Parts: sequence; structure tokens; C-alpha cells
Amino acid sequence: MGKRFYLTTAIFYTNGAAHLGHAYEMVLADVIARAHRSFGDEVFFLTGLDEHGQKVQQTAAADGQDPQNYCDGLAVQWEALARQLGLTNDDFIRTTQPRHKEVVSAVLSKLHAQGDIYKQGYEGWYSVREETFLTEKDRNPDGTWDAKWGQVVPLLEENWYFRMAKHQDWLIAHIEANPSFVSPTIRRNEILGFLRSEKLEDLCISRPASRLSWGIPLPFAPEWVTYVWFDALTNYYSVPVSLGDRAAAAPLGEWYAPRPVDGPELWPADVHVIGKDIVKFHAVYWPIMLHAAGIPLPKQVLTHGWWQKDGQKLSKTTGNVVDPVAVINEWGLDAFRYYVIRELAIGPDGNWTDDSFRARYNAELANGLGNLLNRAVNMLNKYRTGIVPAVATDLQADAEQSVAKAAAHLRAHELQAALVATWELVNRANLYVEQTQPFRMAKDPAQAAQLDAVLYNLVESCRILAVMLAPFLPDTARRIYQQLRIDASPADWSQTRWGVLQPGHQVGAPEPLFPRRDLVPKEGKK
Ligand code: ME8
Ligand code: MG
Repeated sequence: MGKRFYLTTAIFYTNGAAHLGHAYEMVLADVIARAHRSFGDEVFFLTGLDEHGQKVQQTAAADGQDPQNYCDGLAVQWEALARQLGLTNDDFIRTTQPRHKEVVSAVLSKLHAQGDIYKQGYEGWYSVREETFLTEKDRNPDGTWDAKWGQVVPLLEENWYFRMAKHQDWLIAHIEANPSFVSPTIRRNEILGFLRSEKLEDLCISRPASRLSWGIPLPFAPEWVTYVWFDALTNYYSVPVSLGDRAAAAPLGEWYAPRPVDGPELWPADVHVIGKDIVKFHAVYWPIMLHAAGIPLPKQVLTHGWWQKDGQKLSKTTGNVVDPVAVINEWGLDAFRYYVIRELAIGPDGNWTDDSFRARYNAELANGLGNLLNRAVNMLNKYRTGIVPAVATDLQADAEQSVAKAAAHLRAHELQAALVATWELVNRANLYVEQTQPFRMAKDPAQAAQLDAVLYNLVESCRILAVMLAPFLPDTARRIYQQLRIDASPADWSQTRWGVLQPGHQVGAPEPLFPRRDLVPKEGKK
């Protein structure tokens, strides 16, 4: 087995419950993972938790808990959410795990030994909330600090710095030479604009343990702990190394004691799925860290936009939140997965409204897909006792076109566009029912052959739709196959070819996929 397709989400801070934005990122990555598996790729999908740092230490303290206990409690909730979202992640990293800490230490030791980390005194301003030192440039014109920095305090301390600045030109050249490294283009331009106009500084990668104890001690100076971002970014690499990816571990040499196991070939990562607020960490700090350590770079940083609700920022304090679990409990997992992917392309910001969720559910899932399957299976049962007639090809070209478009979009990780292409077949097949009027044909024995053809076209389209939908709506795909009594997995893209359903095959009974819901506005009936 060769190199696997390796993709990751960001790792989530264990400082609260998950919301729509987090669930969205997990679903995006899961759809990409499932699509690649359907195409026949070996996939490794990683998600997990970012447990160190000041934010977590403070939230745990405010909750009266030891930080590890606090993280252990939240980790149970987050892993449960991953199951509720139907994630097919192959591993779940927690940055407090020894396997991760060992690799972070090895990377730091190597960089230190080769002279890329040095100690220096620093006197300046520090944002407690953002865990970052501020410069005069960060001040408002009137000399005050923006509210986003929270409490800003003067600070004098010695810290350890990573020689990042010297790699600025190399990074610009790398991003220029690799147009899809930072995606989409708007984020690439943002990063290039920043790198071309501002001088990169060395990165402070330590915090004195006296001020922040909740972190990984620097292996060469344990009175300091590792800056949380240096620790967190390394998760993408620490998992492959600790699982026994020998090529991944090789650059660490003597600094990492190799395991006697032979693990999967994972590194470099193919895609890091992240949100737009953390693109600088992933497109500037992370590639430079790897480059300095002699480790190959990931292929792509795929950056999604941010969700709002009703045009306002998601916020626990104002109660403007969408609880993904509540939506799933009310509408079903696939309805949630469908909405977030269909509503928003990867890139721009999105706006959740309950009305648009209901409208898509009713129009596209219940009346579109659900109705198509229901009519197809129902009529086949009613007119042909559920037995598939001879292969017919009226919709073959339409299906092939829709499949080809969806495949191209999936390979390009254009998930919304892939769903749009899939619904072209849904709509085409529903239109075909209107045009051919099989319920009329059924009344005229002279049209039996035409009716056979219509029925074949409809059930075969539904079968192909199940395969196309499998990465997005895995349970719906499974249920379509179940109603068609196909004893195989729909998660196999090769089954999108026309003519797989064989004459004489017996389908099952119709059962609604997405029960219609009344479009009652919240205030009551109009
Ligand atoms: O940043 N809409 O963790 P995090 C869409 N631990 N995505 C959103 C969102 C929203 N409203 N809010 C957050 C961290 N996200 C670090 C990452 S990676 C080495 C370390 C996304 O829990 C956000 O953009 O604050 C990020 O990709 C992810 O959720 C985790 O955010
Ligand atoms: Mg955040």
C-alpha cells in the first residue's frame, strides 16, 4: 500500500461546546474523505483537539477544574459530536497525548540543535485573550487598544524565538510556484499581499512556565512551555510519525526514537481544511516550521468562510447560536449535512437562517430527491410488482453528464458545485416523469413497452443518485440502496455507470426519505 490521501481539520480548542462553524468544518472534511474513498483512494482523515494554552487553562480554572480533567470531560463531548456528524475520521488527536508531545519535543530539539531557536529578552505589550505580544502598530490611532485584544498588559520577560524571518523570500517563492497551496485564491492573495508588504519577524515560541504552566515544556529549557500554536500545528505531523510513518519521521533523525512498527505512509498531508481566521498560522508559520526542520510541506491549505446566523456573529453570550445536535435531532443528520454544504461554497462567509434551512429541506430533499425515489419505487411496485424491466437509456446521457460534472467538482473539492450537478439529475428525472406521464401509460396496455422504459430510467437514475450522494448523505444513500434491495455499498463511484440494475431484479417497498414538513412560519399560520 502506498501513500494515502491524508486530510485534516483544524484541531478544536477544548474551551467550550461545539457550534455550527465547528460542525461545518468537520462535515466538509468528511465529505472530501468519503469522496476520495469512493474514488478508490486509501484515505486517512484526522481530526481532534487543541488542549494546551492559556485559553484552556483559564476556562478550566474558571470552572474550578484541573485542566486535564477539564479537557477529558470535553473530549468525550467532542468525540460524541464526531459520531453524531457521521464522521469517518481514522484517528482523533488530543495534544495532551504523549505520542504528540514526543514529536513536538523532537521537532523543537532539532531546531534548537541546528541554531534555529534562540533566547532573547522582550519588553512590550501582551494581549491576554489572544495570547500574543502587540506592537505599536496594533494600537488604535487614539492610542487605545482595540476591544478584540481584551486585557492588554505590559510585560518584560525572556523567551525563546524561532528564526522565521529569514524564510520570507523562500515562502513567497513557494506560494507563487504552487498556486493551489493556499486555496481559494482570495486567501492566497491575502497571504501573498501580507508577505510582500510586511517584514516577517521571528516567532516567539515559548511562554514562561511561571505564567503559563499548561503546555509542553521546551526540551532544552523546561522553565518554559511551548507556545500553543507551535504545539497545535505540529499535530498534523505528530500523528503520522507516531503511527510509524518512517519517511515522515526520518528528518527528525536521532531526536525521535523510532518505533518498531511499520505504519501507513501518510505524510505530507494532502489537505488541511481550516477556517479563514487561522490561515496565517497555516500558510506562513506552519510551512516555515516544516521547511526549517527539513520536513516536506503539505499540498494544500483549504480555507472555508465563517458562518453567521440571521446576519449576526455566532455568540454564546447573545444566544445567537445554532446547535448542530439540536438540528440533527429535529431534522436528521443528512438534512444538516446537505444544508451546510449546499448553502455555502468553500470560501465565502455563510448565513444560517431557519427559513432557508426549511425551504431547502422541503424543495430539494423532500420534493426533489425524496419524491423522485418515492415515485420510482412506488410505480415499479404498482405496475411491475417491483421487478426491474429491460435496460432503457432515455436518461443515460443526462446521468453521465451529471456524474462527470460531479466527479470533476469533487476532485477539485468544490463540494457545493458537486451537489448542484447532482441535483441536475434529480430535476431532470422529475421532469421526465412530468413529460412521460407513466400513470397515463399504465392505463393503456399498448404502451407497456414505453412504460417499462420509463420505469427503468427512473429506478436506474435513483440508483446512480445514491452513489453520487454517498459522500454527502451517507445514510440517505444507504436507504436508497436498501429500498432498491441492492446488497452492496453505494460508496463506490465506479457504480455510477449506467445499466447496472439488471432486468428481473426485485426492488423493495417505497418508504419516504425526507418526510415533508409544513412550512409554518414561527409566529404561526398566515
Ligand atoms: O482556532 N464558522 O480552534 P477553534 C466557520 N485550536 N468556521 C468556524 C467558525 C464559524 N463561525 N468558528 C470557528 C482554533 N470556526 C485552533 C486551531 S489548528 C492547528 C489549531 C473554525 O476551536 C475555525 O475557523 O477556535 C477553525 O478552523 C476551527 O473552527 C477551530 O476553531
Ligand atoms: Mg477560534
